[in-house]
Amino acid sequence: MSREKFIHSFPLILILTLTGLVAATGEGKEFYIVYLGDDPLNHVSAVQTHMDILLSVKRSDRDAKESVVYSYTKSFNAFAAKLSKAEANKLSRHDQVLSVFPNQYHKLHTTKSWDFIGLPNTAQRKLKTEGNIVVGLLDTGINPESESFKDDGFGPLPKKWKGTCGHFANFSGCNKKIIGARHFKLDRNPDPNDILSPIDVDGHGTHTSSTVAGNQVPGASLFGLARGDARGAVPAARVAMYKVCWASSGCSDMDILAAFEAAITDGVDVISISIGGMTKDYVSDTLAIGAFHAMRKGIITVASAGNDGPTSGTVANHAPWVLTVAASGIDRQFRSKVELGNGKNFSGIGVNAFEPKQKPYPIVSGADVAKNSESKDSARFCMDGSMDPKKVKGKLIYCELQAWGSDSVVKGLGGLGAIVESEQYLDAAQIFMTPGTVVNVTVGNTINNYIHSTRSASAVIYRSHEVKVPAPFIASFSSRGPNPLSEHLLKPDVAAPGIDILASYTPLRSLTGRKGDTQYSKFILMSGTSMACPHVAGVAAYVKSFHPNWTPAAIKSAILTTAKPMSVRANSDAEFAYGAGQLNPTKARSPGLVYDMDEMSYIQFLCHEGYPGSKLAVLIGLKINCSSMLPGIGYDALNYPTMQLNAKNDRETSIGIFRRTVTNVGPSPSIYNATIKAPKGVKITVNPRSLSFSRALQKRSFTVVVKAKPISSGQMASGSLAWKSPRHIVRSPIVVFKPLE
Ligand SMILES: *[C@@H]1O[C@H](CO)[C@@H](O)[C@H](O)[C@H]1NC(C)=O
Ligand SMILES: *[C@@H]1O[C@H](CO)[C@@H](O)[C@H](O)[C@H]1NC(C)=O
Ligand SMILES: *[C@@H]1O[C@H](CO)[C@@H](O)[C@H](O)[C@H]1NC(C)=O
Ligand SMILES: *[C@@H]1O[C@H](CO)[C@@H](O)[C@H](O)[C@H]1NC(C)=O
Ligand SMILES: *[C@@H]1O[C@H](CO)[C@@H](O)[C@H](O)[C@H]1NC(C)=O
Repeated sequence: MSREKFIHSFPLILILTLTGLVAATGEGKEFYIVYLGDDPLNHVSAVQTHMDILLSVKRSDRDAKESVVYSYTKSFNAFAAKLSKAEANKLSRHDQVLSVFPNQYHKLHTTKSWDFIGLPNTAQRKLKTEGNIVVGLLDTGINPESESFKDDGFGPLPKKWKGTCGHFANFSGCNKKIIGARHFKLDRNPDPNDILSPIDVDGHGTHTSSTVAGNQVPGASLFGLARGDARGAVPAARVAMYKVCWASSGCSDMDILAAFEAAITDGVDVISISIGGMTKDYVSDTLAIGAFHAMRKGIITVASAGNDGPTSGTVANHAPWVLTVAASGIDRQFRSKVELGNGKNFSGIGVNAFEPKQKPYPIVSGADVAKNSESKDSARFCMDGSMDPKKVKGKLIYCELQAWGSDSVVKGLGGLGAIVESEQYLDAAQIFMTPGTVVNVTVGNTINNYIHSTRSASAVIYRSHEVKVPAPFIASFSSRGPNPLSEHLLKPDVAAPGIDILASYTPLRSLTGRKGDTQYSKFILMSGTSMACPHVAGVAAYVKSFHPNWTPAAIKSAILTTAKPMSVRANSDAEFAYGAGQLNPTKARSPGLVYDMDEMSYIQFLCHEGYPGSKLAVLIGLKINCSSMLPGIGYDALNYPTMQLNAKNDRETSIGIFRRTVTNVGPSPSIYNATIKAPKGVKITVNPRSLSFSRALQKRSFTVVVKAKPISSGQMASGSLAWKSPRHIVRSPIVVFKPLE
């Protein structure tokens, strides 16, 4: 319960890409995931092997049977079981066992947005193939009654589909739009705030699903705000929901892994996962492992970068085979006017749907209406139980931000509304259940001074309205690079809208989910990299509907090399904030050239990064010997569509030689010439400078040499290479940086 409160108390930031580190406990035993070295032969023999291995640490058959909660036998060979620490240690030394990880719990990390980034309703579509595309989401469940998921006009299910869907508690079942819905809760701990079925009691999963593939719903809005047609990127595509996130506990590794396995077996084409990753190596992180197995089967995984910005080095879900998405803002904001009794007006950010009934209202500062002297500190933040109801009743309250929800506290005490002062989160609108808005520190101080300058301070908070703002810019909360794990790999990959996105919601939760809120809506505004991720997953599905045979790497390359460059001036963290730039859907359909890769390319990369070959069995099912393998070539040993050089030495010039191969997916014959942009102090050369293609799918290789003069630690410099033909521009950002020491 306390965890639930914690998650919901920061709906913007914490709900919207689920990273926690709480392990489930019970009699000193915890859940562990045990990986075996070989690919499973078949389900029955694999399950038997799992029991045999467990028996080596358990006293009896019964003990072993009771402790195992899941056998993963389809894409990879592993099991989840409840073990003591000693048993886990012992198992990790077993011959057949590759690694043993404790199960951890992660946190969850549109109308207008599609027109804004250039996927208008009139965009060219291949409806027939789009109807065969299935997007799988690992999330909080889905509301099947939403208009976004009606199946009018949908044809029969794709032939390849092997997924299932049933009637569960409070879940009316699937149709031809939602074709799969399952839930995973292997810890079996009851959750009083959730329902054991694919139904979405949170709203997050319904929102992300409708952003990817929701039908067009005309006239959608939240209380008249953000009015327009709500629709997903691929309205003709199908949705499969794998519920792995639960209201009280978050999203656990063993459930995420089971969902990946199910999605791969069911036959999804794209996986969208807006869940927090952990900075663990690529052979220990469940999301990276699950996504690798998906990639082996031709399924691209798109994931949120996280909401821990603007601190540098916070980007999550950054494996090279994952497409990592940052959040950008579109050109509108929701603001409310605050008018003080002295006639001065200010503007705050947030969504409140309340017209003032009279004006003005008396206003006091939370700090001045504390219940007693001990509660003065928490009354400043208008925290629950800190204020005197008699002094709050009938008034507006000025609060500093510590946790969201002061409007709920104020309302509970008979207060009328809240002005919240904050240094952070001033680019995304918080939804209020009373008149309310968020102001910055400068404005906050002015209001607080005014309150203390008169005996009868008064104010009015007006209903929110839309204003135009310059865009795109990267959200303050969007996690930033550099990649904390691989100095050779630029992350995040790309940016997509993730601020104030309107999409479908659940009828099972009020808009704020907090006590006293009686506001419900079919659509809601949400912000987070969680909202940006399904935009890119939708475009991956869109690209795949034109090119059903493209590999995940080719689809990713198409999305990255066609992204719109963003402004360094407006985003001081440059590529560490936005990667290749802003998602550009219609261009991604026709990239001209792609940087393609197969699973062995990634294995060569991991060997180059220094991973011992024995650990790579978690990914490919057999132990390999890195030194007897063909080495990956060039500075980063990867055919990635972006390049990043880590300038290490203080005095000498750093040199990175990047080797790349592109495949022609555009017209032939065609000739591409290189255009290079090099920042000051960096020399970039490419050889050859011209690539000519006489046929489709022809490959051409080239070398990029980056020479960088010393830069100071924590600094970065941005350049680029663009291959240009008369019809295409294939652009790769090139970043030189020096990590903070
Ligand atoms: C779920 O279904 C049960 C049984 O029909 C019902 O009593 C309960 O109110 C429903 N819960 C919600 C949140 O709708
Ligand atoms: C503040 O807003 C009110 C209501 O819109 C308006 O009447 C008033 O003139 C404004 N005051 C100033 C100083 O702009
Ligand atoms: C606070 O907001 C006001 C009005 O929107 C603006 O003029 C001011 O520059 C802001 N101050 C800071 C520190 O952001
Ligand atoms: C790995 O391969 C190298 C070179 O082929 C060989 O010398 C080495 O013994 C091998 N290591 C293992 C553990 O097999
Ligand atoms: C590419 O470069 C060649 C010479 O290197 C030139 O003849 C050709 O016109 C260039 N093409 C384009 C599209 O710029």
